[in-house]
Amino acid sequence: MLNKITVVGAGNVGATTAQRLAEKELARTVVVVDVIDGIPQGKALDQWEAAPIEGFDTRIVGAANDYRPTAGSEVVVVTAGIARKPGMSRDDLVRTNADIVKQVSQQIKQTCPKAIVVVVSNPLDVMCWVTKQVTGFPRERVIGMAGVLDTARYRAFLAEALDVSVQDIQAMVLGGHGDTMVPLVSYTTVSGIPVMQLLDKGRLDKIVDRTRNGGAEIVAFLKTGSAYYAPSSAVVQMVESIVLDQKRLLPCAAWLDGEYGLSGMYCGVPCKLGKRGLEQIVEVKLTPDEQSALQKSAEAVKQTMAAVTL
Ligand code: NAI
Ligand code: 2OP
Repeated sequence: MLNKITVVGAGNVGATTAQRLAEKELARTVVVVDVIDGIPQGKALDQWEAAPIEGFDTRIVGAANDYRPTAGSEVVVVTAGIARKPGMSRDDLVRTNADIVKQVSQQIKQTCPKAIVVVVSNPLDVMCWVTKQVTGFPRERVIGMAGVLDTARYRAFLAEALDVSVQDIQAMVLGGHGDTMVPLVSYTTVSGIPVMQLLDKGRLDKIVDRTRNGGAEIVAFLKTGSAYYAPSSAVVQMVESIVLDQKRLLPCAAWLDGEYGLSGMYCGVPCKLGKRGLEQIVEVKLTPDEQSALQKSAEAVKQTMAAVTL
């Protein structure tokens, strides 16, 4: 168990993440920070009042516009940001969230200089880059959550199609967190059996497409926001691997320095997560189609990066 974990942003993803972290007792204290006075304090108090029923001793604390309670956090999860609104271009969203993430990163750098930062805010790969640049933290300590979520969606759709337990689907989705993401069909197995032996190409293609549009599918239902139950589960799985030094091999956004032929950007790749944060990027052989899809996805991330001035 750590001493302190901070979650920045007390919205849907941030609040649900704080609750899951506390229920798993991954730290003695979970601090939730937001810019709207009352929201982090109210949600944190409500969650803490569930502790006697749920049986956890992690103290959840809310703070508005005050990073002092976060001081010395060993892990910080960044969920602050806005969703795209009618009339806004993707570049408008990028610039608005980049400003928010810059501000948050300056605070983290001052109050939690040794923290491992897990970024969730969108557009994910670009916000990871902003965080790394502004904090000046090494790549081991700035990691992005997207691949665990995209892979969970892919695994859930496969389990449904095959009528098997989700636990028996092993898979990874790489690339940027957008519609160019790359589900690795060649490495997808069902208890070790290649999925291509169990589903025909037509059905697999449909599942790959549904995975790429997984975020949009939820937005179309909710209308006023985006997914948060699966995203918070995904970020907590990453934090758990760090806190408990589990060394899980998970698809995460990592700063690339030549791996997979890509450099100077964040992109989803297989990462080993342990107590030092990103402990290793694992390079696997891709099919020519997968390699070119990863390249295309990386180009999409670079295009979005170009909209941000640091
Ligand atoms: P939300 O709107 O429910 O919450 C965002 C919170 O951030 C709000 O409470 C807002 O007041 C707060 N905030 C804004 N500026 C802030 C600042 N400077 N400091 C602290 N807090 C600030 O949104 P939700 O659903 O929680 O999503 C949060 C972000 O995570 C969005 O950018 C969303 O697109 C992204 N996301 C990313 C996923 C991924 O796979 N990487 C999955 C799901 C969401
Ligand atoms: C998702 O994939 C919005 O990025 C978020 O649900």
